[in-house]
Amino acid sequence: MRFALLHSPSLDLRSVAAALDAEDVTPRAISRPGDLDVADVPTALLLDPDARDRFPAEVLRRFATSGGAVVAIGAAGEHDVPNSFPDGVLAAFVPRPHGPRQLLVALRAAYREAAARSDVLRARQEAVSRTRELGELTRIGMALATERDYHTLLDLILTQARALTASDAGSLYLVEEREEGPPLLHFKHAQNFSRPDIPIVTSTLPLDRTSIAGYVATTGEPLVIDDAYELSPDVEFSINRSFDDKYRYRTQSLLTIPMKDHKEQVIGVLQLINRKRHGEAKLVHPQDFDAEVIRYSQRVVELVSALAGQAAVSIENSGLYEDIERLFEGFVRAAVTAIEQRDPTTFGHSGRVASMTVGLAEAVDRAGGPFRGITFTKEEIREIRYAGLLHDFGKVGVREQVLVKAKKLYPAELTLIEQRHAFIRRTAEREFHRRHAGYLAERGRDGGYEAFLTELRDAHERELAQLDRFLRLVGDANEPSLLAEGAFEELLDVAARTYEDPGGVPQPYLTGDEVRFLTIRKGSLDPAERLEIESHVTHTYKFLLQIPWTKELQSVPVIAYGHHEKLDGSGYPRRVTGGQIPIQTRMMTIADIFDALTASDRPYKRAVPRERALAIMEEEVEGGALDPDLAKMFVEAKAFEVTEER
Ligand SMILES: [Fe+2]
Ligand SMILES: [Fe+2]
Repeated sequence: MRFALLHSPSLDLRSVAAALDAEDVTPRAISRPGDLDVADVPTALLLDPDARDRFPAEVLRRFATSGGAVVAIGAAGEHDVPNSFPDGVLAAFVPRPHGPRQLLVALRAAYREAAARSDVLRARQEAVSRTRELGELTRIGMALATERDYHTLLDLILTQARALTASDAGSLYLVEEREEGPPLLHFKHAQNFSRPDIPIVTSTLPLDRTSIAGYVATTGEPLVIDDAYELSPDVEFSINRSFDDKYRYRTQSLLTIPMKDHKEQVIGVLQLINRKRHGEAKLVHPQDFDAEVIRYSQRVVELVSALAGQAAVSIENSGLYEDIERLFEGFVRAAVTAIEQRDPTTFGHSGRVASMTVGLAEAVDRAGGPFRGITFTKEEIREIRYAGLLHDFGKVGVREQVLVKAKKLYPAELTLIEQRHAFIRRTAEREFHRRHAGYLAERGRDGGYEAFLTELRDAHERELAQLDRFLRLVGDANEPSLLAEGAFEELLDVAARTYEDPGGVPQPYLTGDEVRFLTIRKGSLDPAERLEIESHVTHTYKFLLQIPWTKELQSVPVIAYGHHEKLDGSGYPRRVTGGQIPIQTRMMTIADIFDALTASDRPYKRAVPRERALAIMEEEVEGGALDPDLAKMFVEAKAFEVTEER
């Protein structure tokens, strides 16, 4: 059929039947306006006067705007187009009576008009659908470009490709380069709309022409297959039907497209399975496949090729992004190792603080009550984690001996005092023997010798005892714990004594610096050393400011900077208060204090059990130093149990 001719049943076409047949015109009688449809070929309506009532002007106009043409036959005595036909509705008017050739001429004119109208209409529809497809592709491109999570990205590619083509299923393969051996094709992801229950089992294929995906990856060209079970015998690939047999699925039409990166290298293969007439149709029974599945058209191939290009770029970008992240992660770990190696007793501290703070943040994110409205995005959690991992990095700027200082004196200083003590003791012994010998030489063993010796020995032993007491006092005072009552004064007393150095110059038992260290009231650090330790916060901040953080991570320096500040201003180094300390920092402070208390023994203090640590923190909360709501949440959510670094 080249042309369709609609007419009312009453119209007699016998006079032109042969001519119509010769021109391949197929007539069809219709009686209802609902049957007035434009066919796939140029379509005309031949309207006789008796049928005018059934097809009013608006019905005819609708027919004309959908590409049909109307030829009206005049009523007897009607020499011109009657007013009941508005302008533009009729393609031709044939008055009555008329000859068969006159009718045929009018019909040909009508078909020319119908063909022209259809062309315009088709072009317009084409333009509309191209615009829609372009818009769709742009939207998909944007969605793919902004997705950074690798697995979400793969899923998104399949979802969009299936939606764009009304495909029932899809699979994604990626080329996997190997250090040894040829590259493989890795089956990474799949979707099946009708059978979401089918599990995804990833696997690898050789990158060669034996499979469809391998063939497309090797040739770099799209491949359309109308029926996967009816492959031509001369193709190199075969299809593995075990999947279909196992799940009672029927792979019928297939579109397999290579995904190429910006260098035109095939990085993977996108496979779409069973294009459907209706995207939402489910393929369950064999008849569903027969009724719904259609072949992939050239236009669809072009569309999916465009999408595959975008997908390849996105996968490549996502891989680069992951590489950068891995690189940075490795750098952070190396940095953390560097700090913890300088002070082995804090080993694992940074990782534990990071994971406890993240655990607390996630609990706050979920919680209502005082935390209603406080949420943390995935990126914000990452920001908290990096701040936690690097919060003590500034310790690299603190001298190691200060960092690990366990006693009030450094070991070398104590050794010096011990050697000095040995020297004074030896001098005293020498003096004892010198006097003894002097007495004997002068007076001999007669007379008061025994009494002299007893007195000399007693005095000598008293001196030795006093010297040993001095060394013990130094040893006791050297401990970072508080000194016993009176020991302080006694130490100062002894320190002021003098001995003669080898040059005969009098020297004090303890130097000014030694006395200053040994009289530190609490802990092992003097004020200057304490400031040096505290400076690690500022070093951390300055170091973190050097890193060009991305927009999502730009608060890492600020979060870490405040980790020793307290709400009541009693912290350091800036002594800021409440509102000036971000919530991320407050959480980190809690985790930091908890870990410092409970982690393994440090040289300057012993680890305390969890309950005791929580009690100490509770005191800090009551004193106004720590955030009460966060401290409560820390306990309730058992954030302290989240100590596995992730
Ligand atoms: Fe710190
Ligand atoms: Fe810390």
